[in-house]
Formats: sequence, C-alpha cells, structure tokens
Amino acid sequence: MKDKTYRPNWRFGLPSVFLLSIFFFLAGFSSFRFFHHSQEDEYGVRARLKEKEHRLLHVGESGDNFITSIPFQILSWNPRILYFPNFASVKQCESIIEMARIELTTSKVETVEGISDLRRTSSGMINSASEDKTGVLDMIEEKIAKATKIPKTHGEIFHILRYKVGQKYDSHYDAIDPGEFDPAEYDYQESHRVASFVLYLTDVQEGGETNFPFENGSNMDGSYDHKDCIGLKIKPRKGDGLLFYSFFPNGTFDRTSLHGSCPVIKGEKWIATKGIRNQLHYENS
Ligand SMILES: *[C@@H]1O[C@H](CO)[C@@H](O)[C@H](O)[C@H]1NC(C)=O
Ligand SMILES: *[C@@H]1O[C@H](CO)[C@@H](O)[C@H](O)[C@H]1NC(C)=O
Repeated sequence: MKDKTYRPNWRFGLPSVFLLSIFFFLAGFSSFRFFHHSQEDEYGVRARLKEKEHRLLHVGESGDNFITSIPFQILSWNPRILYFPNFASVKQCESIIEMARIELTTSKVETVEGISDLRRTSSGMINSASEDKTGVLDMIEEKIAKATKIPKTHGEIFHILRYKVGQKYDSHYDAIDPGEFDPAEYDYQESHRVASFVLYLTDVQEGGETNFPFENGSNMDGSYDHKDCIGLKIKPRKGDGLLFYSFFPNGTFDRTSLHGSCPVIKGEKWIATKGIRNQLHYENS
C-alpha cells in the first residue's frame, strides 16, 4: 500500500540499542579501570602500599604502627641527589622563617656570621630543634630521619641561612675527604657528614639555585672555577627538600658531591639545612 510509511521496529530496537550502549559503556569503563590497575601494578608502588596498609606487621619498640610514604624523585646517581617535592608545608616554612628572623636580630647570630668563611655570603644562624617552641623543626627533623632512614640522633642541628640579592655560596664539599685529611687544618673528625638535607623555605624569583658542577663526572679535569655556577641546577621552591650524599656506600668520599649556591638575582632565598653524620651526634645535648 502507498501510504504505508516505514516504521522502525521500536518494540525490539530501542531496548536493545539501550542495552548495547550500556554494555559498551561498562565494558569500556572496566577495561579502562583494568588498564589503570595494570599500570599501577607495573610500577608496583601504590598497589603494594595499599596492600601493606591492610596488613600492618607487628613492630618493635621504636617502630611505627602505620605506613609512611614520602614521595621523591631521583635527580642523579652521580652524585646521589634526591628531591622531595612538598616536603614541608607553606605554613611550616613561614613559621621557621619567622623564628629565624627573630634570632637574626640577636647578638647570637653575629657570632655565627663571624665564623662563616668568605666563600659564603649568606647570613647564617643556628637553631636547634629543641630550642623551637612551635615544634615545627621537631616535626621536620622527624621527617628527615624517615626520608634518610638514618635516626635523628645522627643529625646535626639545623642551620638556617638567608641569601639576599647577590649573595651566594661558592662550590664546596660538605664533608672532608678522609684521604686528604690534614690534621693541621682541621680538628680531628670523629664522625663524617655522610649526607646533607636542604629544605627550601622560599621560592626564589631568579637565581639562588643549588648547583652540582661535577654531576655525571663533568668538569672534573681541574679547570673548574669554584665561583662558576654550572652543572646540575636545582631551583628553590618553597617547601621542597633536597638530599645528597658526600660518600659512596662503601665509605669512600664522593668527589662529584661538590655543590654550591648560585647568586640570588631576584628575591630572597631562605633554607634550613641539616648535616647527617655516620655516628651519633651529641651537638644538641
Ligand atoms: C655522562 O657520563 C658518561 C660516562 O662518563 C658519559 O659517557 C656521558 O656522555 C655523560 N653524559 C653527559 C650528558 O655528559
Ligand atoms: C668505593 O665505591 C666507589 C663507587 O662505586 C668506587 O669508585 C671506589 O673504587 C670504591 N672504593 C673502594 C676502596 O672499594
């Protein structure tokens, strides 16, 4: 018949199209989830952490009853440099600066400045965690111990440094090479500073990077001028942490651990640093 218009068979068509689209949506969604999970498994870390969260082990006297996760990035193996984004909160950084500013106005700081050698043009001050009423430095100290896996009894007191525009720290080592130890120049060292932790307390608009000129063994032909700000550079970012080692695991001094602080060009740089020793350190007591 002429006026018989085409009518799709809705009775069967619509529900099946609907069901099919639900099916494909679910299939797509679960395969996406599956893909996501298998990616996590490939990297392992997050999946394993979750598993451990549900299966905590019995701990020893000084252990924790929870899992700690401190994100970090390996910046280099030669020397060993690790970067910890958002290690401290903005509030914690500001609290430390506030504390240090007050100390900077006291006579105590002048003594410290007098000690600092000519290569360093920052104003330095020392602040032990035990002197800190706010408890912020204690918390940071605790977290550094966890990040380094070295107990806080091996940590030196915090040094809090301020670099104004033009101020810098020429390249130097944080430890003395035992092979080149000169008893006439240095006192007897009963322990060595095996690692150093730097907490950046401010962003720096321009300059003020931490630099490692000998990274990957570069520039080690003897021609390097310690004033040159070259090599691997780490831009200070408020709250971020940096950890580097001055010794190899076998106890040999790592000559690639040479580092410095590039001149601040714009802004102000504040850092809190802590030396980590290979033996108990009683500076605090
Ligand atoms: C890093 O060091 C290795 C070994 O000395 C060298 O082969 C390589 O070219 C270096 N890489 C760079 C970017 O300098
Ligand atoms: C210690 O380790 C470093 C780096 O792996 C190596 O170059 C050096 O030869 C080692 N020293 C000794 C005494 O084994």
